[in-house]
Amino acid sequence: MKNIAEELNAKLQGKSAGEILQYVLKEYAGKVTFGSSLGAEDQVILDMMSKCCDNFSVFTLDTGRLFPETYDLMDRTNKKYGLTIRVHFPDSEQVEKMVNTKGINLFYDSIENRKQCCYLRKIEPLKKALPGNEIWITGLRKDQSLNRFFTKLVEWDEQFKIIKVNPLLTWTEKDVWAYIRENDVPYNELHDKGFLSIGCQPCTRAVKEGEDSRSGRWWWEAPEHNECGLHSRKK
Ligand code: ADX
Ligand code: SF4
Repeated sequence: MKNIAEELNAKLQGKSAGEILQYVLKEYAGKVTFGSSLGAEDQVILDMMSKCCDNFSVFTLDTGRLFPETYDLMDRTNKKYGLTIRVHFPDSEQVEKMVNTKGINLFYDSIENRKQCCYLRKIEPLKKALPGNEIWITGLRKDQSLNRFFTKLVEWDEQFKIIKVNPLLTWTEKDVWAYIRENDVPYNELHDKGFLSIGCQPCTRAVKEGEDSRSGRWWWEAPEHNECGLHSRKK
């Protein structure tokens, strides 16, 4: 599968995001899933998919700590596109055990606690969302962070044993917002209040103009920890 990812990566270079989506949704019909956090990039991808193709699958990982505005967007999105974004929840027993031993807001106490919370609330549910698929579409962009700069358009994900396709990889934030405005794509109202990258409510805050887009995520930690583990660079 690793070599298939490399071949696909070479084949799809230079194609537009729409062409990439169309290609994978056709060639891997029934084996493609799109993971959306309802972020601006994800909303662009969903709009493109809804315009080109039928029968695609979209899932989201509901950590249980999302913003009310994110749930509202999920509902508006489902209604606008006539679909049901499949929601995956964490295992309640494991979450109960964690919060009853370490506290409801354990993530502020140490990086280890924060990673444990992300693991139980995001990684474990992702392990349930991906099986049965060969392709996982994401909204990653190169310029979101240094960690993401080395991401490829198509790459083999060793952690989840799946081919990951990142159709907006080379888009800038400006490109994303131009598409959203031109196509009247629904977006999270928090974006109009200074939130750029939006994750869980306790771990996301608004950023000031000119600040890095991900600096509002886990802001109390050093920037090199600025990932939850969904997108590890392990090959
Ligand atoms: S995160 O790893 O720091 O949370 P980010 O919010 O930048 O990631 O989103 C990058 C991409 O990861 C999204 O475009 C989406 O494809 C995927 N992703 C992130 N969070 C979720 C989620 N809760 N559910 C499904 N996919 C997600
Ligand atoms: Fe837990 Fe925060 Fe990670 Fe959400 S982002 S899973 S609340 S540590």
